[in-house]
Amino acid sequence: MRHLLAALLCVAFGIVLSGCHSKPSLTPLQAQGKQVFDVGCAHCHVSNDQHLNPPPPDLRGLFTRKTMPDGAPATDAELQRLLIAGKGSMPSFAYQMTPQQMSAVIAYLHVYGAAAQK
Ligand code: HEC
Repeated sequence: MRHLLAALLCVAFGIVLSGCHSKPSLTPLQAQGKQVFDVGCAHCHVSNDQHLNPPPPDLRGLFTRKTMPDGAPATDAELQRLLIAGKGSMPSFAYQMTPQQMSAVIAYLHVYGAAAQK
């Protein structure tokens, strides 16, 4: 009986612990942005599937810094401008994304890489 109780306590404790590490849920807009990111951005920015050199910058915590990797201000407007114009080996997304998808991916990048999202 003691063992059973101990086992139950462990399970309960385990749930509490894993609860502490669970990811905060994304807003619907951020969740849509995550899909856009996973499909349209991650193959370069996470996997670098085109073996670009230098590799595309890691975008985790993008908006926690004042500036983007190239020194431009880290603002929604600047990111939107980048998505429309493209930069170097990064293509323009002007014709591949709706304005709504752009807002969504921008919203997602605000939380991408936040402590609990890793
Ligand atoms: C074909 C590969 C590729 C794809 C797809 C891609 N990027 Fe990039 N991205 C790059 C490269 C390369 C750079 C570095 C450009 C430079 O500084 O010349 C970059 C830079 C950036 C930067 C930093 C810009 C700065 O001013 O420093 C951001 C933010 C960014 N990308 C966001 C995105 C988002 C969001 C998506 C998806 C919608 C995306 N990228 C898709 C290759 C890519």
